[in-house]
Amino acid sequence: CGIVGYIGNRQAQEIIIGGLRKLEYRGYDSAGIAVQTAQGLLVDKAKGRLAVLEGKLAVQPLAGNAGIGHTRWATHGKPSDENAHPHTDSAKKFAVVHNGIIENFLPIKEELMAKGYEFTSETDTEVIAHLLADLYDGDIVSTVRKAVKRMRGAYALGIMTEHEPDKLVAVRLASPLIVGVGEGENFIGSDIPALLEHTRDVYILNEGEMAVLTRDGVELMDAETGERIERELFHVEWDLVQAEKGGYDSFMQKEIYEQPQAVRDTVSARIDEANKRVVLPELNMSDEELAAYDRIYIVACGTSMHAGLVGKEVIEKWTRVPVEVAVASEFRYRDPIYTDKTLMIVISQSGETADTLAALREAKKSGVKVLAITNVVGSSVAREADDVIFTWAGPEVAVASTKAYTSQVVALYLFALYFAQVKGTLAAAEIANVVEHLQQLPAKISTILENDEQIRRFAESIKDATSLFFIGRGLDYAVSLEGSLKLKEISYIHSEAYAAGELKHGTLALIEDNVPVVALATQPDIYEKMVSNIVEVKARGARVLGFAIEGDRELAKTVDDVIHIPTTLPMLTPILTVIPLQLLAYYASVARGLDVDKPRNLAKSVTVE
Ligand code: G6P
Repeated sequence: CGIVGYIGNRQAQEIIIGGLRKLEYRGYDSAGIAVQTAQGLLVDKAKGRLAVLEGKLAVQPLAGNAGIGHTRWATHGKPSDENAHPHTDSAKKFAVVHNGIIENFLPIKEELMAKGYEFTSETDTEVIAHLLADLYDGDIVSTVRKAVKRMRGAYALGIMTEHEPDKLVAVRLASPLIVGVGEGENFIGSDIPALLEHTRDVYILNEGEMAVLTRDGVELMDAETGERIERELFHVEWDLVQAEKGGYDSFMQKEIYEQPQAVRDTVSARIDEANKRVVLPELNMSDEELAAYDRIYIVACGTSMHAGLVGKEVIEKWTRVPVEVAVASEFRYRDPIYTDKTLMIVISQSGETADTLAALREAKKSGVKVLAITNVVGSSVAREADDVIFTWAGPEVAVASTKAYTSQVVALYLFALYFAQVKGTLAAAEIANVVEHLQQLPAKISTILENDEQIRRFAESIKDATSLFFIGRGLDYAVSLEGSLKLKEISYIHSEAYAAGELKHGTLALIEDNVPVVALATQPDIYEKMVSNIVEVKARGARVLGFAIEGDRELAKTVDDVIHIPTTLPMLTPILTVIPLQLLAYYASVARGLDVDKPRNLAKSVTVE
């Protein structure tokens, strides 16, 4: 979900809606706003896109200079007008916007109901508004502190009360929250882009901290003790244009086309040109410490987990250190086998995914060192990990991750090479060779992007398909998983990725006349076996789009159509193979007339468990 708050001398409604627009990608099943008006604290909210709310506000604006707003992605309670935020108490004196979950909301709700409070929504958030009304002692700050002591969970809050219209209170427990500082005006937001148009000077709240905003000042304090906190302002260097669509039709398309840049930026600062070696000056751990690790867990969700699957292959190949990749929501409840030589790598574009963050914390609690790969400076994952390698992909807005994936994969290549350097498992010449090929990747990605006609045609040809299969072996299988996820996410076409050799153990039964199959055959060591698998599906009537390395004249004889991937080292091919797969999903979504950037039921950043 997204939170925006404003207090100053301008019209709050305009600023809040503008900010929410920038955050809509965080969740968008409903939106709402509360403003301190001449008639008191007034709320308007609506199910659906932000545009629905904007339509209502155009007819009946909320005039006033202080307010809070929210875009919601449903957790407790279905998307509806009632369940949209802000939530208020029965007398409508308190308004609350909230990200995250209040775990113990039920007992609090029962207690308040017993006292006669009436609830109008199914949300855990509404409990906070009634609780504030119940605890109010004439001072919103001390009241919020009392309420926070009662609530367990992971959340961020924006709070206003009609009793003290010149204050806006923000609290952070786990879910991200920042305070923007202006002149004669101050802001809150769940993410930096929401505020960038108005200020670049922000305070990033830490867990358990709260902020009290007035027009003229911001006071930070510990929510528990009430002690004042002094903090330096953080100056944001991001360009707002970076977060806008540029000339593209959608953020996803723009982000796909930004990949040469994202890969170049992520790689270039980490290469020692003179020696063609990798340097990672950002690591806190010493080379000796790193060299001692003999086992790695890679933990992540979604597309980031798929990047981890490629990482596993390269780390194992170049260092012979065993790597296990796990989905964070599973891993955190397991009883992993750690030794003092175990390293955990978490991968998260946003750095805020709840399950990934929880897995990181579990590992740290067990004394395991955590290295994070993330795209967001100042994110929870970045701040809590022992070490961080940032991907320099720039803000990613589309729900379906593209440039973050390729940047994560190159960050894993860099890590694997560096790990091999300190362990001495790869000769200098081999490292130099990989480094050179890494540096050539951006140009090769551009070549693929410039020739997207063939994949667009294939995408249009599958637009009415009910099911599609991706097959591959080894690294091609890892990439297939990502290709299949992309297609599902934004085109809603059912698809499955299969390790090609496993087909005959079940999935082959689903292949019949004209079922589209995307077959990746880019890995030389298993090429022939892959071709046999393609023959198996062809024999059952499948229509096959094959992926082969440039110069391959063979595959065309077996399949219906071939996409040629520029030549690079087999280990680096995933970065190139994934590009047409992203384009396939993108064009299929466009051909079906869907909202590419905002697929149904999904959110960019999943900060709930
Ligand atoms: C959501 C997004 C995915 C993303 C996953 C993990 O499900 O829709 O695109 O891969 O979260 O996000 P993270 O920010 O941790 O990489």
